[in-house]
Amino acid sequence: MGLGDDFGTKFREVGVAEFFRKNLHMLGYSGPIKSFTTAIHEYVTNAIDACEEYGIAPEIKVQIKETKDGGFVVAVEDNGPGIPPEYVPKVFGSMLSGTKFHRYIQSRGQQGIGAAGVILFSQMTTGKPTKVISSTGQKAAVVFLKIDADKNVAKVLDESRVDVDWHGTKLVSEFQEVTYRRGEQSAYEYLRRTAIANPHAKITFIEPTKEKTVWKRSVTKTPARPKEMLPHPLGVTPDDLVRMASVATNSKTLLHFLKTYFSRVSANKAKEILAKAKVEENREPAKLTYQEAVRIVAVFPKVKLLSPPTDGLIPIEEDSLTKSLEDTLKPEFLQVITRKPTTYRGGIPFQIEAAVAYGGGAGRTSGDGDKLEIMRFANKTPLLFDAGACAIHQAVKDINWKNYNIGDIDNAPVTVVVNLLSPYVPYMSAGKQAVAQDPDVVKEIRFAVMAAGRGVKKYMAGVRREKLKQKRRSIFIRYAPEVAWAINKITGTPEEKVLKKLTDTIEHKVRLKNAKDDADAEDAENGGSSGDDAAGSDDADDTEGFGGED
Ligand SMILES: Nc1ncnc2c1ncn2[C@@H]1O[C@H](COP(=O)(O)OP(=O)(O)OP(=O)(O)O)[C@@H](O)[C@H]1O
Ligand SMILES: [Mg+2]
Repeated sequence: MGLGDDFGTKFREVGVAEFFRKNLHMLGYSGPIKSFTTAIHEYVTNAIDACEEYGIAPEIKVQIKETKDGGFVVAVEDNGPGIPPEYVPKVFGSMLSGTKFHRYIQSRGQQGIGAAGVILFSQMTTGKPTKVISSTGQKAAVVFLKIDADKNVAKVLDESRVDVDWHGTKLVSEFQEVTYRRGEQSAYEYLRRTAIANPHAKITFIEPTKEKTVWKRSVTKTPARPKEMLPHPLGVTPDDLVRMASVATNSKTLLHFLKTYFSRVSANKAKEILAKAKVEENREPAKLTYQEAVRIVAVFPKVKLLSPPTDGLIPIEEDSLTKSLEDTLKPEFLQVITRKPTTYRGGIPFQIEAAVAYGGGAGRTSGDGDKLEIMRFANKTPLLFDAGACAIHQAVKDINWKNYNIGDIDNAPVTVVVNLLSPYVPYMSAGKQAVAQDPDVVKEIRFAVMAAGRGVKKYMAGVRREKLKQKRRSIFIRYAPEVAWAINKITGTPEEKVLKKLTDTIEHKVRLKNAKDDADAEDAENGGSSGDDAAGSDDADDTEGFGGED
């Protein structure tokens, strides 16, 4: 008998749900605090995504109740479009199912795993089903379901329909092995930041203590809906190309496939690409071989293609972000920057928004004074974990803050906000908590934060000058009465008269000196750079991003 003859008795294919059942930490379920915030994050991102897709101003209610046996019940309700009853078991009971994975659009969810992951975590720690109530406007489906991890399908335990005058979705899940307390990585902080990046949303949160917090809308304008985009040739690999071609059933030829399934590829460009790659243009897409795909992908950068359209990206926008940060942080000074959209890996559109807030409620307050607070967002979703590995965190830390008149940034009352928008956020892992260190992305984050930092630098220089002016005046004024008394003794001129003359002269001289200081400072600001190595190239770089246009 051969050594491996019993191989067949051991061999078994593993389904996706079964895999994640054993590796739930990969989805963010590790540790009692992170697990809890992850679960709420998944439900809340889905709620806002659904509202956004249908142009609805989100109203989200999150409630956490403690159970008698030390567990917690979480209910998340939205006023979104709802899910047709027949789809409820499919979207919540299967992993890798949903309406986003196959679309190229700026959304909070991408993978089709989030909600099912929460349900799996709930049933694994309590043995109980999740209750889903969803309505598209008429009858609501009320479904109690678990996930059959072996088959990756829903196990529906009970299902009914009720008449409602409401549309939206409500999920109720119970958990063990989680803890709740307010802190930097809590659901409270997660929702506070969600409100900051989504100022058009109203969020109500009821904590286990029954304390109710309402983040009201800072703006009434609902942002435009992100647009679905086609991938750009420079963002795909040969493997992507083979896969896309194999499912491109609407195309009979490779020429038509390239022209239809990619942005910025005209019929002429498609001809040029295929000719240069030495691939026959009338071939059936499904028959594209890997070697041919390698040749086509190698030709993409050699053909002059327009940069991908970026109008599908929808930022928070400068005025909305300013309003929401002013409302929540009430800072002494705030600078918000929106960079122009650009691309990473040559063809994936992205855009950075950044803000630096100083003083007031900015920064974290800890036992030993003010501390720097970095708020990371991807597609307006807060990232609370894995900061050390995140490109946003690194980019903020790598800036030389001494050059921005903020000496010890770690101990300053400063909040730095960075929001990365993209139809394909380069996350480090399925847990979606850290942005990968792509050089194009890091560079843009740096530029955005430095530009906001320059506003703070200017403000701080002004504050310093103001203090100097006060000091200058007070030194002279302090001694004026004594000098007036002495002159009166020597010359006999009345003391009040001398004092009036002296004060007028001091005010005049101080005004002249202050005006000169202000003019010098303005010259320095207009002519000088921030002193940071790359900051000088920042403005120059504003012209970048669409250089490939023909
Ligand atoms: N509150 C909701 N309202 C409407 N549709 C929803 C809601 N929650 C989930 N869905 C639908 O269920 C699908 C699956 O959600 P799920 O969170 O598992 O995946 P996703 O959001 O697509 O991606 P990700 O895994 O990155 O979260 C979504 O794509 C969406 O179509
Ligand atoms: Mg989701």
